Amino acid sequence: MTPSSDESALAPIRLARIGGDGIGPEVVDAAERVVNAVCGDRIEWVEAEMGWRTFERTGRALPEATVEILQNCAGALFGAVSSPSHAVDGYRSPIVELRRRLDLYANLRPLKTGAVDAVVVRENTEGLYAGREHWEREGEVAIAERVISRRATERIVRFACELAQSRAASRGRPARLTVVHKANVLRLSDGLFRETALEVSADFREIAVEEQLVDSMVYRLILEPERYDVIVAPNLYGDILSDAGAALVGGLGVVGSANCGERFCLAEPVHGSAPDIAGRGIANPIAAVSAAALLLDRVGLGDAASRVEEVLAAHRAAGPRSPDRGGAATTEDVVVDLLARV
Ligand code: NAI
Ligand code: MG
Repeated sequence: MTPSSDESALAPIRLARIGGDGIGPEVVDAAERVVNAVCGDRIEWVEAEMGWRTFERTGRALPEATVEILQNCAGALFGAVSSPSHAVDGYRSPIVELRRRLDLYANLRPLKTGAVDAVVVRENTEGLYAGREHWEREGEVAIAERVISRRATERIVRFACELAQSRAASRGRPARLTVVHKANVLRLSDGLFRETALEVSADFREIAVEEQLVDSMVYRLILEPERYDVIVAPNLYGDILSDAGAALVGGLGVVGSANCGERFCLAEPVHGSAPDIAGRGIANPIAAVSAAALLLDRVGLGDAASRVEEVLAAHRAAGPRSPDRGGAATTEDVVVDLLARV
């Protein structure tokens, strides 16, 4: 092979694969095979670990070695981890810790089926999940503080606006942004979110911006989901809207999500480790494959991401269905069908 000056342009993109627990490794393997069929040698996979089994073996749910590996990757495809239902000394959710350490401030949840093509952009670092809780009177009155900052709101809204722009460009239709809040009641915190969001989005002239109170947002999302494009919301509202949206477009087995920072994207299926079906070869890999498509898009392989989306759409219309979708197909049957459509 002759060395060429543009060799670096051809260097593969390094991505980590983190199977985790339960069906995590099964669905990540499946997604990796589909990605490799589409991308060939444009991707270099690196193995990393976290989760409950890792904790049992090493005493750390998120080993430092994993953080170091991720810091040298453009992104990661993550399956799921099992969390104990009771408090265990020394165990902390590795995914929550990773979001914080890698500053993955935007959580993306596409909602796509039929005429619906929207995405929820959830602020991932503050809001009611800032973890500021205390007892006002122990056992009687608990207080949770909700944090909204101008800085975090600016960057999540800018992220949402840029996403709206690129979606509009690739879909050939006008961009729309819906800002979700409850500023009529939470006048300071949601007031700041609303005001900052309207300020930031005003710089994007081609985006039609609207606002919607969170309660009526849930109602309208269920009644007329096809009217939405990019929806931006503070942490808890975004979490709830994301799950309501997931139910709307086919359920846990098919929906992916991505946690994004400036330099890194961690994509994952929305479902957990499903211990009830782990090891039986019947997990639906579609959610993990959808997550992989998000990851490819975020790391600059938009063409490959679109290809995976097309394969998924064709499969969902006519391919074999796994038990969660009312069929009898195994994970392997689904993967074979997906590969045949690449
Ligand atoms: P789950 O999402 O793992 O399972 C809920 C139900 O959906 C189960 O009946 C399961 O069999 C089914 N299911 C989930 N994914 C499926 C797939 N790909 N194909 C077919 N069926 C599927 O949620 P659950 O049961 O509440 O939690 C199980 C474990 O997962 C817990 O330890 C929980 O802490 C963890 N979890 C981890 C998450 C993560 O790593 N991001 C997210 C949610 C839960
Ligand atoms: Mg959730």
